[in-house]
Amino acid sequence: MARILESEFRNESSGHDWWHIYRVWNLAKRIAVKENAELYIVELASLLHDVDDWKFADHNGPSKTIKLLESVGVDNETIELVTEIISSVSFKGAGVETIPQTIEGKIVQDADRLDAIGAIGIARTFAYGGFKGRNIYNPDVEPILHSSFDDYKKSASHTINHFYEKLLLLRDRMNTQTGKELAAKRHLFMETYLEQFYSEWNANS
Ligand code: NI
Repeated sequence: MARILESEFRNESSGHDWWHIYRVWNLAKRIAVKENAELYIVELASLLHDVDDWKFADHNGPSKTIKLLESVGVDNETIELVTEIISSVSFKGAGVETIPQTIEGKIVQDADRLDAIGAIGIARTFAYGGFKGRNIYNPDVEPILHSSFDDYKKSASHTINHFYEKLLLLRDRMNTQTGKELAAKRHLFMETYLEQFYSEWNANS
């Protein structure tokens, strides 16, 4: 499964490339061991979590995920568990809550969100902003906390706003204890980063 996905996502340039999947997979495995979760389910769901992502797919269902799982002979019960997890992990806006039902789902969501914050998260955010043709910053444009998934999808503000609209909200949305601990450290790093960013922007350092 890992090999199929590596070739599929190798050339992705929006921050959802193979290495994102690889990091989420690794993080999810680490959290799963600590939280005593079903490792097999966590591995499959973390490897497949972006295959049918709403940002890229032109349909709404997890059809590609199901096809991939069937092609390697995974049983129906497992397919159901994995697709259920995948449909609940994605971030859909500040005011839109999606909490997975199972511990395996909670772990995959934590791992995916951890990869969106900290040093890696900052790099991915600017990479994604570039991919979308956004400014890095514009002091005249305030962040908006989107209360609907539709508004969040249409958002086109500068990349620094994305910290306030998503990244800085993730620490308090972690599901597992291990996720919370890792997120605290990454969150602090982003706050330090922003402080330095504004200081340089205003020619103070
Ligand atoms: Ni992801």
